Amino acid sequence: MRITVTGAAGFIGSNLVDRLLAEGHHVTGFDNFSTGLEKFIAPARQAANFRLVQADLLDLDAVRAAVAGADMVFHLAANADVRFGTDHPRRDLEQNVIATHNVLEAMRGHGVKRLFFSSTGSVYGEAKVFPTPEDAPFPVQTSLYGASKAAAEGLISAYAEGFGLQATVFRFVSILGQRYSHGHVFDFCKMLRTDPTKLRILGNGMQRKSYLHVSDCVAAILTVMERQTEPFAIFNLGTDEYCEVRDSVGWICERLKLQPELQYTGGERGWIGDNPFIFLDCARIRALGWAPRYSIRAGVESTVDYLLENADLLDARA
Ligand SMILES: NC(=O)c1ccc[n+]([C@@H]2O[C@H](COP(=O)([O-])OP(=O)(O)OC[C@H]3O[C@@H](n4cnc5c(N)ncnc54)[C@H](O)[C@@H]3O)[C@@H](O)[C@H]2O)c1
Repeated sequence: MRITVTGAAGFIGSNLVDRLLAEGHHVTGFDNFSTGLEKFIAPARQAANFRLVQADLLDLDAVRAAVAGADMVFHLAANADVRFGTDHPRRDLEQNVIATHNVLEAMRGHGVKRLFFSSTGSVYGEAKVFPTPEDAPFPVQTSLYGASKAAAEGLISAYAEGFGLQATVFRFVSILGQRYSHGHVFDFCKMLRTDPTKLRILGNGMQRKSYLHVSDCVAAILTVMERQTEPFAIFNLGTDEYCEVRDSVGWICERLKLQPELQYTGGERGWIGDNPFIFLDCARIRALGWAPRYSIRAGVESTVDYLLENADLLDARA
């Protein structure tokens, strides 16, 4: 297959690209390197069946050129930051909604009929049903990020209906593992590298969260790629467990062999849009035969190990 992957130099995108190349597909990676790293895409660059387009999704002509001749598109590029959304009220609209519209328009123009989209469990806002199924009641949005992903999902489903696209939306929980470059494990490891004696934790530490290892995430995506037949489908991707933030803090400190003083800022939410409980119902993807290999704890520990081996990442990122 000829496949275009947006966000190819990012955390999840680069893992997906490596797997698609290993399966023998011809991959065009698209990235503007706003958060993506050369280091992540370097292995793919060695492959004869890979080409990289360094461009911005807001440049519609560049997107058109990158999807021309593709059998399918994996659209992962986004502003993936939730926490600082209210500092930049236009960013999610541009990077997650308009950029997605450009991908859809480019695909429509070139007759590319298959799309996979990385959405998020954040679209459920503060869900009322746990574990939260894909058809949960339409939620109130609690972050600009979640709102922008919900808007992008809406555009995708309307393009599927209106233009005969076959589309898949994945709603990920937080992802961990190789090339992890943002999120709580990153923040905690970075803080402890600066000062191993204390750790500041946003909220009361009792937020309940789900995490999925990136290799399990990519395996789930490929399972759907092989087996989904409906014109439009949504799949939650997560594990059948959750942990409290303070559990994760304990595993991280144990792995780092540190006993810092823990300073909780307090409150059920650490920041605007922080969701006190994320736990997705993953029966739909499991019915296709997929199951995660990593527990949450094993995923957190392997991520700490990765960051220890790649400490340059901790130094490079603010
Ligand atoms: N990491 C998670 O825990 C998580 C959870 C839920 C959903 N997601 C979604 O998964 C996708 C990938 O996330 P990630 O963690 O790999 O993030 P990431 O920031 O590592 O990767 C995003 C990539 O997209 C590129 N990009 C961003 N804007 C672009 C633009 N305008 N033009 C071209 N390239 C652009 C970046 O340079 C980067 O390489 C995102 O859509 C994100 O919203 C991630």
